[in-house]
Amino acid sequence: MDRIRIVGGNELNGRIPISGAKNAALPLMIASLLTDDTLTLENVPHLADVEQLIRILGNHGVDYSVNGRRERQHEGYSRTINFTARHIVDTTAPYELVSKMRASFWVIGPLLARMGEAKVSLPGGCAIGTRPVDLLLEVLQSLGAEIDIESGYVIAKAKHRRLAGNRHRFGKVTVGGTHVGLMAASLARGETVLENAAREPEIVDLAACLNAMGARISGAGTDTITIDGVDSLSGARHRVIPDRIETGTYAMAVAMTGGDVVLEGGRIELLERAFDILTEAGADISETPEGVRVRRNGNGIRAVDVTTEPFPGFPTDLQAQFMGLMTMASGQSRITETIFENRFMHVQELARLGARISLSGQTAIVDGVQRLKGAPVMATDLRASVSLVIAGLAAEGETTVGRVYHLDRGFERLEEKLTGCGAIVERISG
Ligand code: UD1
Repeated sequence: MDRIRIVGGNELNGRIPISGAKNAALPLMIASLLTDDTLTLENVPHLADVEQLIRILGNHGVDYSVNGRRERQHEGYSRTINFTARHIVDTTAPYELVSKMRASFWVIGPLLARMGEAKVSLPGGCAIGTRPVDLLLEVLQSLGAEIDIESGYVIAKAKHRRLAGNRHRFGKVTVGGTHVGLMAASLARGETVLENAAREPEIVDLAACLNAMGARISGAGTDTITIDGVDSLSGARHRVIPDRIETGTYAMAVAMTGGDVVLEGGRIELLERAFDILTEAGADISETPEGVRVRRNGNGIRAVDVTTEPFPGFPTDLQAQFMGLMTMASGQSRITETIFENRFMHVQELARLGARISLSGQTAIVDGVQRLKGAPVMATDLRASVSLVIAGLAAEGETTVGRVYHLDRGFERLEEKLTGCGAIVERISG
């Protein structure tokens, strides 16, 4: 199994190209199920999760082709991919596929909307909490779906084979639920109003793509989204937004090591709250024509308290990285996780590097230390694993991070991007 070896202590200086957003690309790819025409997505990141979703969509009959070799904009490596679901050959998403990636459950929305039926396996357990799908099923029921659960599968059928628009209020803000609601309502008969909808930039990106395909959606980015259902959708060409979590992750890495890095293609407005917090902690963040510039020179990092919240609050997907940064801050920081109940698995691993963290319910109390010392550590999930990389970049000596496949799910060419800025990072195979 691959490991990442890091020798800490170097500043980061230079440029890091930001890839297309994984969490935008996945629902956009799933939206290709809504039309028999070709959906062309530019700036799709080259990640294990994207490859896995290509396989899952292929099972339903989606053909794909990759344009050109690499896109040169921002010197990224993301690709343009055409997805065509001319015929849906199977409305079942089996356990073997759905269990590998939770977001693939979202195919239930477009399958039900286009075909009037879908049979999708429940995703099963997940390392960062129970993550149920009740809110996703409720929005489909509001749109007239009949839902049964049999042998671990959700069997959904639309009355008279077509969903019907309705007013639906989510009991809790859910990104996945909002994606599913948007896709399903786009082809429903009549008007749908989604209340208490998620406001994440990835929702706005999906709505923009659906509108380019002929949908009639307004209000995406606010908590009330209105969708006027249409009879069919066409193909379109759409560019995936830059990855705000990758942008925030590298910003924290620079804050941790010191240095001066331009995150090319990164967008400041996608991360306002996180950048406010980083600024408070002592990083210098500014917008440049190429993207976002992050600097920390001279002064150390100050402890700042953080609570994760739905957008526009501080993202849960940056909580582990921020904790990595706070391990060497001056003072005590309280980090409260409100989105997922079991998202502190990195705490034990950070402690192996010398971090002082105690847990009190959903709050981690981090007492900054003067120095971390490299050690072998284990990645436990996608975002947790990159927090170990951040800590390793500042730790004295050598850190090896095991179970690197977690990183490969969400970070494109991580070693290359960090090495390009002066870090000592390498992948060790086997
Ligand atoms: C998405 C992101 C993930 C991010 C999360 C929160 C993708 C591929 N994944 O996940 O990286 O961490 O948003 O920003 O975009 N919940 C229920 N019932 C449901 C659905 C969700 O109780 O039916 C709960 C979840 O357990 C969690 C909360 O609602 O506590 C928010 O989850 P949600 O926003 O749905 O996360 P995902 O869409 O799965």
